[in-house]
Amino acid sequence: MTEAATTMHPTPRARVQAMMEYHPPLGSRDALRLDFNENTLACSHRVREALARISMSDLTRYPQREPVEAIVAAHLGLAAAQLALTNGVDEAIHVLFETFLEAGDELLLPVPTYTMYEVYASATDARVVPVLAADDLQFPFEPLLAAIAPRTKIIAIANPNSPSGAVATREQLIEIASRAPHALLLVDEAYFHFHGETVMDLVGVVPNLIVARTFSKAYGLAGLRLGLIAAPVQLMRWVRRVLSPYSVNSLALACLPPALEDTAYLDWYVGEVLAARAEFETALDAVGIRRWPSRANFILTEIGLRHAEFVRLMHEAGVLVRDRSADPGCDGRVRITIGTREQMRQATTALNEAVAALNLGGKEK
Ligand SMILES: Cc1ncc(COP(=O)(O)O)c(C=O)c1O
Repeated sequence: MTEAATTMHPTPRARVQAMMEYHPPLGSRDALRLDFNENTLACSHRVREALARISMSDLTRYPQREPVEAIVAAHLGLAAAQLALTNGVDEAIHVLFETFLEAGDELLLPVPTYTMYEVYASATDARVVPVLAADDLQFPFEPLLAAIAPRTKIIAIANPNSPSGAVATREQLIEIASRAPHALLLVDEAYFHFHGETVMDLVGVVPNLIVARTFSKAYGLAGLRLGLIAAPVQLMRWVRRVLSPYSVNSLALACLPPALEDTAYLDWYVGEVLAARAEFETALDAVGIRRWPSRANFILTEIGLRHAEFVRLMHEAGVLVRDRSADPGCDGRVRITIGTREQMRQATTALNEAVAALNLGGKEK
């Protein structure tokens, strides 16, 4: 049935009318997935076993998040009241912004950074204040401090950041929190496992600190949509008013404890990625492709004017990579997720062929 041209629909809020639909460029991904920074191999086999144990009752009842939240909180050394599970970090960001951002507020955002901060902020009446990193893409610490204003309500920092892989130090984060006591500091530790440094231990100690983590990356559970938000109890009370009690489904809840328990698998995967990252850095240097130092499971590379052709040639060779040219200050830059050493050898072969075909890189050939 086609919609009648004369149908009168109610109009959405002005901010929503001004928004664009955001469609991640997923498409067909039947290839080596080095485009979305997921785990490229597998999650723990214990997760598959937990899925096999799912009963009819698990499927027919509403999910109960509290028992699993208590397990995750204990795992992180937090009180259960300081933590909520979410439908990916994306829901954590969305709910946090909906809870705190209102007209006249400012969201301070070092850029380039993760796309969804701006998407969710644009649905609120707050203003985004971007703080552009210099060409080295290092964390813009001093400019960020200088941008803190009386209207700053939230400062969102991905640590490590995407697409750069750059990090803020613990001291810098503490300094930012103390210089903006009237605002919230969200530290998004989606890539924590590859970096190894955290401020999770400061939740409840630094009064305006909120930390988010995901199970989409190192744990390999992106399809289950699992994230968490950790904050002082008083802040969590506000967040829980907005958060859906059922947004984390029963399958995800059943899989989380076994995934957490299998520390051997997590350690193995992270070790594999770090070894592969070092090998891939050497491969990039060998062909003279500029790269930015990364503490995460991806590397941002400088491909230049022929970035779109590069992405296409890599795709034709069975390797998906992500063009970040549209990000602020990232024209000609392509982000490549790091998988296992074996996968990255395939990626290196594709890279070398694309570099030769397009005559890229600074090295004599
Ligand atoms: C910094 C950052 N935060 C959050 C996410 C999304 O996490 P989730 O899959 O848990 O929504 C990503 C995914 O790319 C990310 O790069």
